[in-house]
Amino acid sequence: MALDDIFNLENFLIGDLVKYLYNPESLGGISIPGFMKEDFRKLLSSEIKNLDFEKVRQQEGLVKEGYERVYINFDNPEELREYPLIQLLVSEYSQIYKEFSRLATFKGMINTVGVHRYNANDIGITPHIDHIKEGVNLISIFCVEGEAEFCVCKDKSKVGSVKLDSSLCSLILLRAPRTNEEKKLRPTHYIGNIKREKLSLMLRQQP
Ligand SMILES: [Fe+2]
Repeated sequence: MALDDIFNLENFLIGDLVKYLYNPESLGGISIPGFMKEDFRKLLSSEIKNLDFEKVRQQEGLVKEGYERVYINFDNPEELREYPLIQLLVSEYSQIYKEFSRLATFKGMINTVGVHRYNANDIGITPHIDHIKEGVNLISIFCVEGEAEFCVCKDKSKVGSVKLDSSLCSLILLRAPRTNEEKKLRPTHYIGNIKREKLSLMLRQQP
């Protein structure tokens, strides 16, 4: 499978995305609907739904979480051999990420895969800002299964909330800090109103 078999690239306008995401006035999150091809989504879904998920049910300050997760850290995509479709996704998406990083003037490569499972009617994750260890430069979230709301907003009380398209095959991009100065620009976001069990796959670059 090649890049074109996995992704619809025509809506991935890298220059525009870079300009929008790193504009400090923007909410720092954007969706590219239909980015993943449907056939690939189905294959990926069958691989990730059998992963060994860990339950997360906690409250930290005002942030409530109720979902399940798996993280796979790797330094080399070859380390993902046990997961051929994730490996394929990482290696093909890395080509796009590289071009994105050139235009967005950051260095480095994706080194973490996370899969989140949100059960229908569960809490999801209330408005929060990701910790720095959860990613620098750019967070890429692939919508693989299910139906829920993914929103970005100005603060933890959901002021200025904007719903991003999180339908199947969408790719959601979240700004993550490229520099020390940008640490304060991490977007507030939340996942809720889970209508049908949702599976999201996240690619991140951990510092
Ligand atoms: Fe988050």
